Amino acid sequence: MSLLFTPTTIRAVTLRNRLWVAPMCQYSAVDGMPQEWHHTHLAQFASGGAGLVMAEATAVSPEGRISPQDTGIWSDAQRDAWVPIVAAIRSRGAVAGIQLAHAGRKASTWSPLLGKDGTVPVADGGWQAVAPSAVAYEGYAVPQALDAAGIDAVVDDFAAAAQRALDAGFEVLEIHAAHGYLLHQFLSPLSNRRDDEYGGSLENRARLLLRVVDAVRRVAADAPLFVRFSGTDWAEGGWTIEETATVARWAADRGADFFDISSGGLVAHQKIAVGPGYQVALAAHVRREADVPVNAVGLIDDGLQAESILAAGDADAIMSGREWLRDPHFGLRASVDLDESLDYWPAQYVRARRRR
Ligand SMILES: Cc1cc2nc3c(=O)[nH]c(=O)nc-3n(C[C@H](O)[C@H](O)[C@H](O)COP(=O)(O)O)c2cc1C
Repeated sequence: MSLLFTPTTIRAVTLRNRLWVAPMCQYSAVDGMPQEWHHTHLAQFASGGAGLVMAEATAVSPEGRISPQDTGIWSDAQRDAWVPIVAAIRSRGAVAGIQLAHAGRKASTWSPLLGKDGTVPVADGGWQAVAPSAVAYEGYAVPQALDAAGIDAVVDDFAAAAQRALDAGFEVLEIHAAHGYLLHQFLSPLSNRRDDEYGGSLENRARLLLRVVDAVRRVAADAPLFVRFSGTDWAEGGWTIEETATVARWAADRGADFFDISSGGLVAHQKIAVGPGYQVALAAHVRREADVPVNAVGLIDDGLQAESILAAGDADAIMSGREWLRDPHFGLRASVDLDESLDYWPAQYVRARRRR
């Protein structure tokens, strides 16, 4: 059997394979509520053979949304709107996960679907963004630095969101500490200029993330808990892969189970050499140095490529994003590429299993 289609168990949750759907914002929510679009969008990946379907970056507070059209889970009404979506994913045999997020200084920005860039003014439905320091992302409005009470509120918001996510039926929780959003902003010296216990040393920059891990773990005693990191800022003086491995180890010691290793997003002047599997080496570094399970993500677009990453020992699982958008049945297709006969190929689609 291929490694890609070998099930894996994290805590008490068994995932039927290691080919997973990466979180992808749809910018299609209304007042933070997921819509019919989200239902069909996420359920189709479960029909298409995914082991884990990770719902998009979902805001833990209104001001934590990237755009006004982001999904949220700060209210009971939002929790309830997720329930049928989670049920649709589960009924198709996949595990439903959700990425809990706060955008920090990259909040209140125009949805890319509107073809605009930059900060939404308050007069147009935007809001004042918050961050570790009053340092703007290039081209965006200057955020307000969080005070101690504001930081405590962020921790509480993540915990409350985690509880609602579990109540909605999500079985995997992912803390978004990547792509230049709030928790990453605290980690990186390029966005964190604080001189209190949340800034300066690595211990201090990691303090908020670790508080969030603790708080989520307290409410979600048994749920698999993932952390998504950017393994590097791809910028001089920024967050590094060595720091990522150190903090992943600390997070694992506090109860995080799995690490989703992406990169970039903190500064506009990042220099990324993009190519097939371009972030695999980052995942492999964290796996080796922190001795934690990781998934690789980033331009992993076919089953043979995914299998070779697992076979090399560079990752424990694979997340893909855009390939699932091109082909929502990517999992089924990858199983054919790897000569697997899945017992969860949808019965309704069995006639398509072989070309003739
Ligand atoms: C439409 C779209 C939306 C995305 N939204 C998120 C998100 O909500 N959270 C996140 O961590 N990454 C997000 N990403 C990044 C993906 O999760 C993934 O890391 C990235 O696309 C690289 O993988 P790929 O080459 O397989 O697409 C998004 C990517 C796309 C294409």
